[in-house]
Amino acid sequence: MSIPGDDRDNGTALDAKASLTAGADYWSTAAPPDLGIRSIRMADGPHGLRVQDDDNPDHLGLGRSLPATCFPPAVTLASTWDPALIRQVGEALGREALSQGVDVVLGPGINIKRSPLCGRNFEYYSEDPLLAGRLASAMVAGLQSQGVAACVKHFAVNNQETDRLRVSADVDERALREIYLRAFEVVVREADPWTVMSAYNRINGVPASENFWLLTELLRGEWGFAGAVVSDWGAVRDSVAAVEAGLDVRMPGPPPDTRVAAAVANGSLSEEVVEKVAARLRLLAERIAASRPAAAEMDEEAHHQVTRRAASQGAVLLHNDAGLLPVDPSRERSIAVIGELARTPRYQGAGSSAVNPRRLVTGLEALQSRLDGVTDVTFSPGYAEEGDADADTLVKDAVALAADSSLVLIFLGLPPAAEAEGRDRTSIELPANQVELLRAVAAVNPRVVVALSNGSPVTTAGWRNTAGAIVEFWLTGQAHGETIADVLLGEVNPSGKLTETVPVRLEDTPSYLNFPGEHGHVRYGEGIYVGYRWYDARAIDVDYPFGHGLSYTTFDYSDLEVTVRELEDPVAFTIALTITNSGSREGAEVVQVYVGDHSGALQMPVRELRGFAKVRLPAGASERVTLDIRRDDLQHVHPEAGWIFTGGEMEVCVGSSSRDLRLRALVDVPGHAYELPLTLWSPFREWLAHPVAGPAVRRLIDERGGVRGRMGDLLGDPVGRDSVLGNPMLALSQFPGFPINEADAEAVLAGLGGGS
Ligand code: GLC
Repeated sequence: MSIPGDDRDNGTALDAKASLTAGADYWSTAAPPDLGIRSIRMADGPHGLRVQDDDNPDHLGLGRSLPATCFPPAVTLASTWDPALIRQVGEALGREALSQGVDVVLGPGINIKRSPLCGRNFEYYSEDPLLAGRLASAMVAGLQSQGVAACVKHFAVNNQETDRLRVSADVDERALREIYLRAFEVVVREADPWTVMSAYNRINGVPASENFWLLTELLRGEWGFAGAVVSDWGAVRDSVAAVEAGLDVRMPGPPPDTRVAAAVANGSLSEEVVEKVAARLRLLAERIAASRPAAAEMDEEAHHQVTRRAASQGAVLLHNDAGLLPVDPSRERSIAVIGELARTPRYQGAGSSAVNPRRLVTGLEALQSRLDGVTDVTFSPGYAEEGDADADTLVKDAVALAADSSLVLIFLGLPPAAEAEGRDRTSIELPANQVELLRAVAAVNPRVVVALSNGSPVTTAGWRNTAGAIVEFWLTGQAHGETIADVLLGEVNPSGKLTETVPVRLEDTPSYLNFPGEHGHVRYGEGIYVGYRWYDARAIDVDYPFGHGLSYTTFDYSDLEVTVRELEDPVAFTIALTITNSGSREGAEVVQVYVGDHSGALQMPVRELRGFAKVRLPAGASERVTLDIRRDDLQHVHPEAGWIFTGGEMEVCVGSSSRDLRLRALVDVPGHAYELPLTLWSPFREWLAHPVAGPAVRRLIDERGGVRGRMGDLLGDPVGRDSVLGNPMLALSQFPGFPINEADAEAVLAGLGGGS
């Protein structure tokens, strides 16, 4: 393509740059000759490499991929609440990517867990955006420290799998910014990801991958993102609109996308847009090269140990009322291991994130090898995950074994088909056959420990009391058996905490009436009240609250001090408290800080997570913990003024979960008053309160003999006064006796300089 009057062969160069806007093949970007931009290779996924041979690619993990370390999925990593540990996983994942020639790892996924039914919640971090952002930032930093780009996804508001390529997430501005975009904003501002993946869905009717406000005005303009945006696979409908909106590469390729080149040629798409794509891909290649370590050692064993550490730190001890845990096998006559999941483990989710693990140890194998020579370990499947096995016989055999054992370790959870990319759940219950088995087993042996394997919450409300202890292992990654044995036998003291509320009933969930939507739309009717924000605002009992997780030791909280900082300081206040390990063994606690904004500036959640720290202490030890709470992290979105923090009374709560708050303080924190632009539609009280417009209006009213007629009567009446003060100026100007007309008001606004 040549452009008339251009004496260089510019057409070739422009064609070449335009060709960058579509993948060269299923996993790579184009590398047109003479541009000096190399092809960039991408691969899933967030918790392990899924590199497939290029002749049989797919984006749902259906095809086999090269063996790789299967790290714990996000649900488990996040439950560690440990950024340093997550960074280590990111570093290891980056080294694995280098070893397989991958430049961009397509993760982390940080979409907010709006409903426990979302089929990909296993792949996401939390219902809370600050927590998701802080933890995912560690993953990004770990990956990119190895010269491998992270690709934060799916930008944005992709909170369900149902109809995901078409559905419009219809969400108000405040919920959009405070909840669904906030985690992405934290990651972009704090970890500087080199790529972002645009989502399949629409946002308020506009496709995310063709959304100028999202990809250019917000991501680049407001947040300062300098990286490249790639689309989700198959997300782009109109490639010219997408590139114009700020997308860099439509994936997958081929076919090459001639539409962009044609649009540049006919002038409907500016050359500058294509030049920017080339510049951003060039920068991506340069960043990768600049951060690449000299030698990328690939230590499989070390990566396996990182997986094991992360999985065991992500296990959440939900309850241990009977003190059955940790198990001391030397005191057990015989242990029954019951449940097909002990033999056929569930350790990751299904879909594009699926990894072909280098190794996998089942829970049964790990327990048998650990307890060999210590006590008898006998297995019974108890239920079949699929197929029409003889359920009665399975239960009968398991019950007989339980009756004849001193302790039962029962493995329950969700079958692979229950939660996967491309589909959502319809229930938060465990499979009925598993609950029936549990009840039958507990009827003959009261010493029952439940080990759960699932990627999103299952309510225990209907059966919790039949179990002496419950550990939520989520999805452990390949170090499955070791992790379960480590925790149940007490080699590791569990310290995981829930990053997603476990509800009692599906009907209690915030999105219950609006999930997954219908006829191409899903209304985010709950607004900002997602997760614990909802349950706390409605005082709804939950099965287990956000932030919950027990330990084999106990922790005491004392001596809270809150030091409020000056307004100029980016830190609003510093919290100091003493945490003591008051139990008998070493352990780690996640100290959580929740703040309730009592300023009255906006309708507010009861309290919100504003800081956290994981503290590891030997038995009997204490530590003075301090946390800085940033003023930016206390902001909320005003419909007209945007992000505001007006300051005022704040309730600061510190505790072991969102509902186990041990220390509280009320403090007054300085903030910034916000000015709303004065308009004809501003209420009369705002006109009177305005520093310039107020005196001008009062002068006019005095010069014209005051407010007369009905408005004058109402103003003089203590009950009616408010109704006048709340009326917009434009409305009042139409009432007889009100001495200011529209032209007067316009003149006052003009005197303010632009009507503000
Ligand atoms: C999938 C997923 C995305 C994945 C991509 C490539 O559809 O939505 O997370 O990275 O395609 O497999």
